[in-house]
Amino acid sequence: VETYRGFVFLSFDPDIVDLETYLAGAKEYLDLVIDGASGDIEIIKGTHEYGMAANWKLLVENSIDGYHAAPLHSTYFQYLASVGTDISAGITGVGLDLGNGHAVVEGDAPWGRPIANWEPSFGAEAKEAIEQIRADLVAKHGEELTHRMANTSRNLLIYPNLIINDIMAVTVRTFMPTAPDRTEITAWQLAPRTELPLLRERRLDNFLTFLGPGGFATPDDIEALEACQSGFNSGGIEWNDVSRGMARTPQQSDEEQMRTFWRRWSEQIETESSTQRRSK
Ligand SMILES: [Fe+2]
Repeated sequence: VETYRGFVFLSFDPDIVDLETYLAGAKEYLDLVIDGASGDIEIIKGTHEYGMAANWKLLVENSIDGYHAAPLHSTYFQYLASVGTDISAGITGVGLDLGNGHAVVEGDAPWGRPIANWEPSFGAEAKEAIEQIRADLVAKHGEELTHRMANTSRNLLIYPNLIINDIMAVTVRTFMPTAPDRTEITAWQLAPRTELPLLRERRLDNFLTFLGPGGFATPDDIEALEACQSGFNSGGIEWNDVSRGMARTPQQSDEEQMRTFWRRWSEQIETESSTQRRSK
C-alpha cells in the first residue's frame, strides 16, 4: 500500500514497483487535478454504487474514449444548449499514452466547470466567486497552467481500474469485475475542501446532472456497454477494431488512449499465460 497526495493505492503484485514509478506520466495529471481543486481536496460524503452486465474493460474504453459523448449523450448536450451554454465549438484535444498502461484524453471544455470556468447555468451570483478562484490559481500557477486547470477537461485512466473524470465536476471512479460479464462500480465526487457552499451546490448539481445512476449520461453509457456485451456474446466477431488514428499524431477522437490500455493488458496477460505454459 502506498499513497500519493491522499490517493491510496494497493497492489497484490509482490514485484510491484514504487508508486511514483508506477504512476509514470499519470502523476503530472493527478497533480493537475488536485492543484486545480486548490491543492487541498476531499471526497464529498455520499457514494454512487451501481452495476452493469458487461465486462469491466468496456468501462475503461468508455471512460476514456473521446468521441462517444456527442452521439450518445445528445440529451445532455440539448439540455446544455437549452440553459444557454455555447457548445458549438465541440470538443477538440488529444489522447495520450502516459506509460504503464495509463492514458488520458484531454481537450477544451465546452461546459462550465466549478474550477474557475463560469457558465450561465451557474447563475450570476456564482460569477464573482469563480473569477476569484481563477485569479488565485493564476497567482499560484501562472496563466498557462490555470488555463489547463480551468478551461480544459480530462478523463484520466490510472491502469487498470481507476478513472478520474475531471470534466464538469471531478469524479473518482473505480470498478471490480464479479464475473466476466458483470462489473460493480463505485464513484465519488472530489472537491476543494474549503469550497464555498454556493459553488459546492453548483458542483453537485453539475455532477448529478451528467453523471451517476440518475444523470443524463451514465444510464446511456451503461445501456450502450450492456448492448456491446450482448453483441460480443453473440460470437459473431472476434476483434474489436480500435485502430483509429494509428498513423498520425493522436487526436481526441482517435483511439490511442484505448490502445494504451489494451497494450498493457495484453502484455500482462500474455506474459502470465506464457509463464503458465512454461511451468506445465
Ligand atoms: Fe459517456
